[in-house]
Amino acid sequence: MTSTTSHSLGIAAKGLRKAYGDKTVLDGIDLAVPAGTVFALLGPNGAGKTTAVKILSTLIAADAGELRVGGHDLAVDPQAVRAAIGVTGQFSAVDGLITGEENMLLMADLHHLPRKEGRRVAAELLARFDLTEAAKKPASTYSGGMKRRLDIAMTLVGSPRIIFLDEPTTGLDPRSRHTMWGIIRTLVADGVTVFLTTQYLDEADELADRIAVLNDGRIAAEGSAEELKRLVPGGHVRLRFSDPAAYQSAATALREVTRDDEALSLQIPSDGSQRELRAVLDWLDAAGIEADELTVHTPDLDDVFFALTGDSKIPHQAKENVR
Ligand SMILES: Nc1ncnc2c1ncn2[C@@H]1O[C@H](COP(=O)(O)OP(=O)(O)O)[C@@H](O)[C@H]1O
Ligand SMILES: [Mg+2]
Repeated sequence: MTSTTSHSLGIAAKGLRKAYGDKTVLDGIDLAVPAGTVFALLGPNGAGKTTAVKILSTLIAADAGELRVGGHDLAVDPQAVRAAIGVTGQFSAVDGLITGEENMLLMADLHHLPRKEGRRVAAELLARFDLTEAAKKPASTYSGGMKRRLDIAMTLVGSPRIIFLDEPTTGLDPRSRHTMWGIIRTLVADGVTVFLTTQYLDEADELADRIAVLNDGRIAAEGSAEELKRLVPGGHVRLRFSDPAAYQSAATALREVTRDDEALSLQIPSDGSQRELRAVLDWLDAAGIEADELTVHTPDLDDVFFALTGDSKIPHQAKENVR
């Protein structure tokens, strides 16, 4: 853990435990989220992400653990925690039968905003999330991305300093995912602490200052994306050939490589540094090998995830960096 004091932590958990019957979901996990940062809890379906969010947002009780959110002890002052946070659940809180605007005004009422103030906040947030035009239409007519934006807009009505977003982009199309990422970045720029859960490694990589990988009820690894990537080897240079004969002679000449006979590609272990890259190129020149394509692959969170969990359920997101 870092030297961050407990005062500057938006969220802190020590020994968080939760079981349903004899099934242990969270087996004593520790979390520390500095205020004003994005923390991603990463794990496959059923890992316990929603359980963690529900506990930290006071919706359900933990079996054990010292938990502080916004500087308040969850066991002592859950009301103060509730006043400091906003939660966007995995499943939408939007009421489809009423309009987007009505959903917003309902939230304003829940937060006891005076009528005029409520209208002002609702209009401002609807505009900010590009929903002004749709504001008077029933929310059931909204696209998935619009519903998610409305969900977050509703969460922001109370101006929370800490926001929990449970799988904010699951099921969204790529464009809506990017919009959501932009929204999350804006929140953080405003100083909000964001606790997000995701099944997507690229999302954690894009957004999070720190990432914790949840596996079998425990935190299998925790750190920045860069720190996590350093945990695993997996960097390599990949050579692709179109001519099977050229591929065969290269594969024979380069002994310490991994072959993919179907794709006519060879993988050479490499950390991606300039020096190693030059050595690889010299080696290829010396052997008279000319590949049709050369790509440098640096280890990504996929590699980390597979190394930590051995899980193959997460779809592989190919991430090749051509340099
Ligand atoms: N209310 C509940 N009663 C019994 N089991 C539950 C309950 N809620 C969740 N679980 C179980 O706890 C595990 C973790 O669930 P969840 O926190 O929803 O995971 P995730 O959000 O990572 O997909 C799952 O095996 C799930 O079936
Ligand atoms: Mg969940």
